Amino acid sequence: MSQIEVGILGATGAVGQQFIALLAEHPWFRVKWLGASQRSEGKSYQDAAAWRLRVPLPDDVARLSVDAATPGRAPKLVFSGLDSSVAGEIEGAFAQAGHFIISNSKNYRMEADVPLLVPEINADHLALLDVQAASRGWKGRIVTNPNCSTVVLSMALAPLRPFGLKSVMITTLQAISGAGYPGVASWDILGNVIPFIDGEEHKIETETRKILGCYGDKRVEPHPVTLSATTTRVAVQDGHTESISVALANRPPADAIIDAFNAFKGKPQQLGLPSAPAQPVVYMTERNRPQPALDVERSHGMAVTVGRLRPCALFDYKFIALGHNTIRGAAGAAILNAELMHREGLL
Ligand SMILES: NC(=O)c1ccc[n+]([C@@H]2O[C@H](COP(=O)([O-])OP(=O)(O)OC[C@H]3O[C@@H](n4cnc5c(N)ncnc54)[C@H](OP(=O)(O)O)[C@@H]3O)[C@@H](O)[C@H]2O)c1
Repeated sequence: MSQIEVGILGATGAVGQQFIALLAEHPWFRVKWLGASQRSEGKSYQDAAAWRLRVPLPDDVARLSVDAATPGRAPKLVFSGLDSSVAGEIEGAFAQAGHFIISNSKNYRMEADVPLLVPEINADHLALLDVQAASRGWKGRIVTNPNCSTVVLSMALAPLRPFGLKSVMITTLQAISGAGYPGVASWDILGNVIPFIDGEEHKIETETRKILGCYGDKRVEPHPVTLSATTTRVAVQDGHTESISVALANRPPADAIIDAFNAFKGKPQQLGLPSAPAQPVVYMTERNRPQPALDVERSHGMAVTVGRLRPCALFDYKFIALGHNTIRGAAGAAILNAELMHREGLL
């Protein structure tokens, strides 16, 4: 089978590196182009990037020269891990020039004509691409994936929709890799918890409602659930842990909730997409799980693990969820989006 050439914008960053690692053995996609800032432009990738992953940097990518983040020389399909301060302008220019951008950045996520995609939950939101074509006049398109803590929360909540999801309170314990590289200073994070991540609570509260919402009449109607989020940064390398309380209109028994978590599946599983975890949400029965040190790599970092389901005196139930922030929360999510678009004939 011939491979599809892809580019990576923001290739030198934490998310960009994860793209390179995940695409190294990909059956459909082959990395042919890398873009980053003027700091990296013209250097070989191995000289431009401070490689931070445990897997080796693939030789063919190490030798690629990093290009300017301008459209023209990149393949049609481009994954983006650009810093959000520049992503809006650069991704828009690429889409206008005919590229299909699969973005990790916040800039376009809440635009009414841009899919905020989690393929297990809302594959039908890709219908927004026709709306986007009509409204923007771009030759290309932009599809986004959610903020890294929002993906984990959305995956944990989607199986609960049939029980009448009313309200959610969430506190996150987020890994340092979520802040990019070099990210949070070691003096600030070692032996510490930082109870503030700029803009994160608003993203969780708004993006989740769009992801869980219904597509119809050329728009997404947000899910009516009420959310309240508190976000913290902790001294964990990879994996966002979330303490979640939910109020459910139907007050189901705990067994029914656990069954719903474990049975949850979507289009990626139906289609057998290469990056799809066989079981996207896994309930762990051990009383002290999930833990980032033990569970974050589940299904190559693409599964969300949940556990500790118990009654809540204020809401109905509370539980813990965990997901890999740079894989399921970023690069892996974007690759799964592109796989779905390819199989649906949208690329
Ligand atoms: N880390 C996560 O877990 C995570 C999860 C979900 C979403 N995100 C989002 O993904 C994006 C990337 O995050 P990250 O953690 O990978 O950040 P990062 O490590 O700081 O990397 C940022 C990337 O953007 C490039 N860049 C910066 N300024 C540029 C410019 N003026 N022109 C072109 N390229 C420029 C950098 O290139 P140089 O190396 O050349 O400076 C680098 O490749 C952000 O929007 C972030 O919010 C991150």
